[in-house]
Amino acid sequence: MTTVEVNGQSREIDAPGDMPLLWALRDVLGLTGTKFGCGRGLCGACTVHLDGAPVRACLTPLSAAAGRKLTTIEGLAPAGGLHPVQQAWLDEGVVQCGYCQSGQIMSAAALLASNPKPSDADIDNAMGGNLCRCGTYGRIRAAIHRAAGAERSA
Ligand code: FES
Ligand code: FES
Repeated sequence: MTTVEVNGQSREIDAPGDMPLLWALRDVLGLTGTKFGCGRGLCGACTVHLDGAPVRACLTPLSAAAGRKLTTIEGLAPAGGLHPVQQAWLDEGVVQCGYCQSGQIMSAAALLASNPKPSDADIDNAMGGNLCRCGTYGRIRAAIHRAAGAERSA
């Protein structure tokens, strides 16, 4: 049994400690907003925050989350509202198929938490591990600038 604070609530997760966190979230807790893309740390679809830092849930064992604060896309927004990154995503019409987007949003939110006014280079650096088969990169960059309160740059 592993105790993790998931989206502000203490959860007891009855699963082996070496289970990938992604499986624990999706299959044990039913939090399916975090997506399985590659399973090898290469695409970013499974990005969640562990103590505020972005991690790849497919490569992170459940045991690594013990006693820590885990945030998934389901817990990013404040109650009854949207996270500024989610609002910017809507305003810029970022999403196409949507499959990669929860990971993109989690990476963008982590970037802005640590760097409230990122440059294009900062964005490319932070987001480089999040792949999008639909090619939404330009709108992602614009939405991050919008969320940061900057003028649209793309
Ligand atoms: S599913 Fe985790 S990085 Fe691709
Ligand atoms: S929106 Fe389709 S993979 Fe990114």
